[in-house]
Amino acid sequence: MVRVKVPATTANLGPGFDCMGIALDLYNYIELEETDGGLKIHVEGVDNKVIETDEKNLIFKAVRKVFEKNNYKYKGVCIRQHNNIPMARGLGSSAACIVGGMLAANKICGDLLNFNELMKLAVEMEGHPDNIVPAMVGGCVISVHDNIGVRYIKLDIPKELSFIISVPDFNLKTSEARKILPDTVSLEDAVFNISRAALLSAAIAKADGSFYNLFGEDRLHQPYRSSLIPGMSKVIENAKKAGAKGAFLSGAGPSIIAVTDKETGIIADQMKKIFLNHGITSKIIISKASECGAEIIDQGGSDL
Ligand code: HSE
Repeated sequence: MVRVKVPATTANLGPGFDCMGIALDLYNYIELEETDGGLKIHVEGVDNKVIETDEKNLIFKAVRKVFEKNNYKYKGVCIRQHNNIPMARGLGSSAACIVGGMLAANKICGDLLNFNELMKLAVEMEGHPDNIVPAMVGGCVISVHDNIGVRYIKLDIPKELSFIISVPDFNLKTSEARKILPDTVSLEDAVFNISRAALLSAAIAKADGSFYNLFGEDRLHQPYRSSLIPGMSKVIENAKKAGAKGAFLSGAGPSIIAVTDKETGIIADQMKKIFLNHGITSKIIISKASECGAEIIDQGGSDL
């Protein structure tokens, strides 16, 4: 049996569409055991009722990919997942399944794939690197995926920063939230984003909080996605009025994250209230960045 702990992630951070992400200290736990036959999947925790327990299960698909890549012959597997990351809310739940499943499967195969090969396989399965890479290495990550492979730099997030996650009570699939984006953008909008993504990265690297209002400054995805998330712009605006340094749509949404180094309660209350004014109930999760990415926390024994 192999047990893996894998963090939630928030991607984009506003300007860093498809290339910036932060690991959060909210974790899913995945156990994988090879068995004599068949597929058994137990799901506990958040959203346990809606997660597939057959071959469509995303962790199983990730496990199978690693086994196939390694030509590893298996008779059956048993998977137990304990979820704390809400599904389809823009908090990297699919990346957590892919990374957790692949790490556990690779361990069972005898670590045939090295870390970079595993990362490449995981990014290919997800389609973009901005959740996968921080889920694997922790911290704040700027990453690029192309025919060279996955290239990234990890930055530390100052410990005093808190992430106030406002999680609305509705799902938004990334595939739906990507369909609404335009095929082309103006040069002006492209420059708006690259300048802010570069400056925000440098500010994080230097822990210069005076630039953290760049969290959320974006013209490539948030303006288009706001039509899918009632109250989105107002929640962001009011989180900042309540004292947040910056606020942004987390990944493809619908969760919204406000960043602060001060008291979180007033900002959280505002975010909840504004969503409610738009007919949306929501939950608040207060998180810090996770310094570590996914890790194997147990191997051996057979307690599934
Ligand atoms: N960068 C991706 C998007 C994150 O915004 O579509 C989705 O998880």
